[in-house]
Amino acid sequence: MSTRNRIEVMHGVNLDQLGRRPADHYGNLTLDQLEQKTEAWGHELGLNVRFFRTNSEGAFVEHLHRLDGMADAVILNPGAWTHYSWAIRDALEITDLPSVEVHLSDVSAREPWRQVSVLEGIVSEVVSGQGPEGYQSALQVLAAKLK
Ligand code: DQA
Repeated sequence: MSTRNRIEVMHGVNLDQLGRRPADHYGNLTLDQLEQKTEAWGHELGLNVRFFRTNSEGAFVEHLHRLDGMADAVILNPGAWTHYSWAIRDALEITDLPSVEVHLSDVSAREPWRQVSVLEGIVSEVVSGQGPEGYQSALQVLAAKLK
């Protein structure tokens, strides 16, 4: 049986529209392309990477509920939910898994409402403004943590 650590990468609202969103913030990759890159980076680090995407907040919460025994750590980019979904914060806390919050754009340098994250204090780290490579950084953080 494989002993590779399992990383769940979760994308929330409007991330499935990458490629159609403002390129100066989000680049040109589609979500499929971003996931392919992330899977390859995970493979290099000896990690098994699985993906989940939804535009439904309830589905996102329920997927977090289901992670017990299914994943060793979580990378999440909840999109705009990051800034107001206390339900997602509570659900992430319930998982009790190490987690990293990723944003393609530099949310700390954008509108004030984007500078607030309800996940503060729950996630191990926030990676913001590194574009797609932010997912590689998040995988590196979790690989080191799970060693
Ligand atoms: C985002 C930043 C959020 O503020 C925004 O609502 C998104 C994407 C990012 O990856 O930069 O949808 O999470």
